[in-house]
Amino acid sequence: MRVTVADVQKMKQDGERIAMITAYDCSSALIAERAGVPVLLVGDSLGMVMLGHSTTLPVTLDDMERHAAAVMRVSQKALVVADLPFLSYATIEDAVSSARRLMQSSGVQAVKLEGGKSITPQIRRLVDCGVPVMGHLGLTPQSQHQIGLRVQARRAEEARQLIEDALALEAAGAFALVLEVVPAPLAAAVSEKVSIPVIGIGAGAGCDGQVQVWHDLLGLFEGRPPRHAKRFADIGAAMEQAVRAYADDVRSGSFPTDAQSSTMNPNELAAALA
Ligand code: KIV
Ligand code: NA
Repeated sequence: MRVTVADVQKMKQDGERIAMITAYDCSSALIAERAGVPVLLVGDSLGMVMLGHSTTLPVTLDDMERHAAAVMRVSQKALVVADLPFLSYATIEDAVSSARRLMQSSGVQAVKLEGGKSITPQIRRLVDCGVPVMGHLGLTPQSQHQIGLRVQARRAEEARQLIEDALALEAAGAFALVLEVVPAPLAAAVSEKVSIPVIGIGAGAGCDGQVQVWHDLLGLFEGRPPRHAKRFADIGAAMEQAVRAYADDVRSGSFPTDAQSSTMNPNELAAALA
């Protein structure tokens, strides 16, 4: 049985912290599930870490569908949430048709939308239609050209707005929300004010859960990781070392050996060459 939206909400009520990680393909989904992570996010961050774009803005619904479907084909236990990409939920009609495509083609259980009060009509409609919606406030990368990539809501006015947005998302029926790169004390206050789970990224330890990008956690992404990321392993270096060893073995002739090869009756070969 898969983890459900209700299970995740119960984790908050029980004071059990929620671990969430992005997954974009079958191998990452399998590893995350084996590691016991209850919630997977097929994030539009895949545009950067999987497709080589410099922002999430070029990510299309087709991109999201392909990666979400790969995750769903192999995952069995986790709650899987997928991002609706940039400008795919600008109107209620857009939101409904985008969620329909993403959910029907991949089977993900929930969608995530960036934004506060201004997108509550879309959220309300999706929820009315039976679609679990996760909100996303604070540093919302799809609006980075408007808000920048710095810490959000440091000042009272912005912070008050963020609290209002969080309450508006809850009232619109969102089952949980992500808070990205906001001051830790504000994120802790929001987590107390709303009854739905608040999943932080760069939002301190006072949230109900945390989400991290696969590549940041594992040292797979070139360049400087964001400040909020902790590298739990340097898998990128391990991969480079393994690939270098492989290439060295090819050059030296020590790979492959008989162990990786198959044999043939010499008479059959002689007949073939005759
Ligand atoms: O796309 C993503 O990976 C996300 C998380 C960082 C919350 O939205
Ligand atoms: Na995202």
